[in-house]
Amino acid sequence: MSFQDQIKSLFVEESQIPEEFHLGEIHQKEYLCNGELKPWAGEVSEVYSPICISTPEGLKRKFIGTYPIGTDKEATEALDAAIAAYDNGRGDWPTMGIEGRIKCMEKFVYMMSEQRELVIKLIMWEIGKGQADAAKEFDRTVEYINNTIDALKDIDRQSSRFEIAENVVAQIRRSPLGVVLCMGPFNYPLNETFTTLIPAIIMGNTLLFKPPKHGTLVHYPLLKALQECFPKGVVNTVYGRGASVIPELMRSGKINVLAFIGSSKVANDLKKEHPKLNRLRAVLSLDAKNAGIVTKYADIKLSVNEIILGALSFNGQRCTALKIIFVHESIADEFNKQLSGAIAELKCGMPWTKGVFITPVAEPGKPDYLKACIEDAKVHGAKVVNENGDTTIASFVFPAVVYPVNNKMKLYREEQFGPVIPVVPFKNIEETIDYLIESPHGQQVSIFSNNVEEIASLIDPLVNLVSRVNINSQCQRGPDNFPFTGRKDSAEGTLSVTDALRAFSIRSLVATKMNDTNKKLFNEIVKDHHSNFLTTNFIF
Ligand code: G3H
Repeated sequence: MSFQDQIKSLFVEESQIPEEFHLGEIHQKEYLCNGELKPWAGEVSEVYSPICISTPEGLKRKFIGTYPIGTDKEATEALDAAIAAYDNGRGDWPTMGIEGRIKCMEKFVYMMSEQRELVIKLIMWEIGKGQADAAKEFDRTVEYINNTIDALKDIDRQSSRFEIAENVVAQIRRSPLGVVLCMGPFNYPLNETFTTLIPAIIMGNTLLFKPPKHGTLVHYPLLKALQECFPKGVVNTVYGRGASVIPELMRSGKINVLAFIGSSKVANDLKKEHPKLNRLRAVLSLDAKNAGIVTKYADIKLSVNEIILGALSFNGQRCTALKIIFVHESIADEFNKQLSGAIAELKCGMPWTKGVFITPVAEPGKPDYLKACIEDAKVHGAKVVNENGDTTIASFVFPAVVYPVNNKMKLYREEQFGPVIPVVPFKNIEETIDYLIESPHGQQVSIFSNNVEEIASLIDPLVNLVSRVNINSQCQRGPDNFPFTGRKDSAEGTLSVTDALRAFSIRSLVATKMNDTNKKLFNEIVKDHHSNFLTTNFIF
């Protein structure tokens, strides 16, 4: 069987889909606004899976359901609900004590966990993620929420006391910012979205939540829990064409925080729509083109293993993926040979295939885009060096190693976000530093070397060009307690379990001059639990 036919045969007939992974059509005919799941009878968006079904008429993307295409009207309704629930900081949610908010969040995690199987299946069908990775995404998110609760307790405990300086006594706590517009990406539709949504909610803000275009249905089974666990208006969903409804929301000037994971261009365009930029905080996770640098002192086998993980996990559709590899020219041939050999061993299949590594890519236009990048590289002198590299059948793209890549090629600059590995040979290590200096991105880098002096000499300049330098390891976001951020066009603000709580809040303090009257006032408020802010209650 030709390789093309082998790839084609990965797409099976409907009857060959294992029973446990069947998914009936899901039609979302409601949206969450002001504490109600309101019925939707308007226009809908049809959702076609990247998983194709083999039919007598050829391969067809499987139709899995529909969701509302909301308009400005519903978006404004959602905005009004969030504004009312915040009520200038006087709403039930922003004034609720931390313990109360934590209780709501614990109930939410419980209800969310009941939807585990369905959400995992939706991640598989909606974006083509392998079963193990989809399950990991769900479980990592639950753990993230539990860790967020613990981190908030910790912050609260540290704030449960008075501070005294220069005869002024104060209690300092973190308080909410207002209305948050939260938008996540398709590649981690649940996890990345929730790493902003959850801290934003638990800090007492009220939200407009727009799920990613690919990955909207993933959130549908969770709407009931969002509705039941938080007071009305705390979480409101926004659907529709992002390019029309979102700018209008920004123009209202009533969004206090833009939490967005996507391209820097969209983020900048949205920010500019806000009439009072000083009132807008942005928490952004944006473009990245992380480089791997394999020096002549590298352990090639280890580098190849890490680069496979870094460049091809979830088909390279990770913001943290290694998207360009610099290899010292003296080892380039051997490196390409080992990398190509490792790629040939990767398990290809559908998301339910046991041990699968390469699956169909999520975005319908991606195979053509990747082809265009490879053609462009060929015009400028590169080749696909691995056997069967770039074999594309419908939504399935077999990984391609493209070599030698140079600065005339799209693959040198563009974030391909797919299973193509551009390899650039270098003579002098300075060439790699120059690339990072000129790059508009500044998220992470991976250095592969076993030479102490070489690694040390790279660490010092590189930590000032990117936000994480990985040694003999792929780039990645986790562990989630570590700061996740970027320089230049790669991010604004820092996320981690604790940093995210800071990002969605601001410190406020209640202060008074120390005299007998004021001391008595403070003591009485605290003793009789008159305030949720001015309190020395300790959460265990
Ligand atoms: O798309 C970006 C994700 O945050 C990557 O997370 O590096 O843990 O896979 P990860």
